[in-house]
Amino acid sequence: MSEDLLISDIHSLGQKDALDILARIARVEKKTFPSSEAWDFGADLWRKKPNTRVLYATNAPPSSRSKEPPVLIAYALYVRQKGTALLHKVCVAEPYRGQGVGQKLMNYIDERLRREGCQSIQLWVDRARAPARALYARSGFQEREVIDDYYAPGRAGIRMVLDLERG
Ligand SMILES: CC(C)(COP(=O)(O)OP(=O)(O)OC[C@H]1O[C@@H](n2cnc3c(N)ncnc32)[C@H](O)[C@@H]1OP(=O)(O)O)[C@@H](O)C(=O)NCCC(=O)NCCS
Repeated sequence: MSEDLLISDIHSLGQKDALDILARIARVEKKTFPSSEAWDFGADLWRKKPNTRVLYATNAPPSSRSKEPPVLIAYALYVRQKGTALLHKVCVAEPYRGQGVGQKLMNYIDERLRREGCQSIQLWVDRARAPARALYARSGFQEREVIDDYYAPGRAGIRMVLDLERG
């Protein structure tokens, strides 16, 4: 299925479609993360946050005449701060995990940020999220710091960095 993946940015859409994608992302977000970690994918992300990028992946529409809306498969959110991008969220909807979608999304983010002149990507990940840590490690991220109880008592956070100027 990942050959048909279409990755884009909500800012490439008109307002109506962007708000529709954001609403669908918000539903997956709520299902996936505890409320303390769920990002607010509200309409203001489209309107007034120029440093914040929301990427989404859908299946390619079967044909332009199809009435079926494309399915939301994955999304990511990063914030640009000068030469660094803070990657706050990477998520693949549950039925599509383990099929290479996460890796494709990471490759897209890597290429796009390099093209935009970004020097490094930083993120925090829960030590217990093994699939996410494996995905980031495979994408070239290095673990730089561990903070105990970062997310909640007993839940450590790991800071990972990808240096885009190195390779
Ligand atoms: C983490 C996540 C994005 C991975 O996406 P995915 O599409 O399932 O990952 P891929 O299929 O592209 O796998 C890429 C690599 O990730 C690792 N991986 C993926 N699923 C894994 C699993 N269940 N267990 C261990 N490693 C796993 C592997 O290293 C895999 O490489 P492989 O192909 O050699 O096995 C997805 O599991 C997810 O959305 N999880 C819930 C949300 C989350 O934890 N997000 C990160 C914190 S914001």
